Amino acid sequence: MAHFAELRRQGPFTPAVAPNPITGLDDEFFAVTSYAEVVEISRRPQDFCSGRGSTSIADMPAEAMEFFGSFITMDDPRHARQRGIVSRSFTPRKLAGVLDSVERICTEVIDDMCEKGEVDLVEAISQPFPLLVICDMMGIPRSEFGTVLRATNVILGSGDPEMLGGEENIFSALLGAGMELTGLVNELAEHRRTHPTDDLTSALVHNEVGDDMLAPQEIAPFFILLAVAGNDTTRTATSLGMHLLAEHPDQRAAWQADPDGMTADAVEEIVRAASPVTFMRRTVTHDLSLCGQDFAEGDKVVLFYGAANRDPVVFDDPERFDLR
Ligand code: HEM
Repeated sequence: MAHFAELRRQGPFTPAVAPNPITGLDDEFFAVTSYAEVVEISRRPQDFCSGRGSTSIADMPAEAMEFFGSFITMDDPRHARQRGIVSRSFTPRKLAGVLDSVERICTEVIDDMCEKGEVDLVEAISQPFPLLVICDMMGIPRSEFGTVLRATNVILGSGDPEMLGGEENIFSALLGAGMELTGLVNELAEHRRTHPTDDLTSALVHNEVGDDMLAPQEIAPFFILLAVAGNDTTRTATSLGMHLLAEHPDQRAAWQADPDGMTADAVEEIVRAASPVTFMRRTVTHDLSLCGQDFAEGDKVVLFYGAANRDPVVFDDPERFDLR
């Protein structure tokens, strides 16, 4: 974070390079480290798009990008169509069901932890809780939980040998994990077409045919996005949140004393301090200027959320953890 603070002092955009695992060359990009510019770029998808890659600095083959990224790597109108279909599947009744499931699974993992006594927090709570909720929402049976956990860990930690499960080639490991999740979800979707339940998979395959239904080949990438985006973010926020609370017993005691009054602000502060998503990338769609910086069509800009969340222009004492 000290490096980001130094970059931010120099200006909102810093030219930088990152090694490209496919070409072996360096990719050039602008690092964006100030809060205002991260927000501004995020609000202008026509000028700074996601469709040429959003989750990696390196350009990926289009098919691989969409297979692993679904609509997070798309621009409108394709993004609006797919996101709209998913949003419309979250009816108030379905959301009430998700809330019930969150409470049930939360009670279950905490009861399990209490029975075991001393545990590793990540293994006992931060890791299983969000993924169990997502699997439950989609209708993935509990018996497949281990498969989903292993495969999403490979996709999320592709650079980390510990996560590759013995496979030395990153690309084969990624492809294997993607195929495993695809097989699982396609089989479930096929079954739900004839045996619908009230899960999200049933809603997605039973929407009106046409623009209102995900095509069969769009369902697995959507599940991969949901399982990857919803899993590591919450795992990191829960783990770092607990770590910060352990380091700041006064803050923990204050929150415990007033859960109703403090929870909303406390969650915001934990997400700010943890900043679970390191970055997202955008690509400049046409020559333009922003805050005195000229950009050319095709330039890459990388939004560093942890740096923006410690911008002293917005946060008085950004290194202080303060739940109130
Ligand atoms: C602390 C928790 C979370 C954080 C910090 C977080 C952060 C983010 C960020 C930074 C983006 C990219 C936005 C952009 O490109 O402008 C994103 C997108 C997304 N997240 Fe999360 N997220 C969290 C939890 C979740 C959960 C629990 C789910 C699902 C179960 C989820 C599903 C998604 C999806 C589907 C997208 C793509 C949205 C789109 O392209 O329209 N996220 N999230």
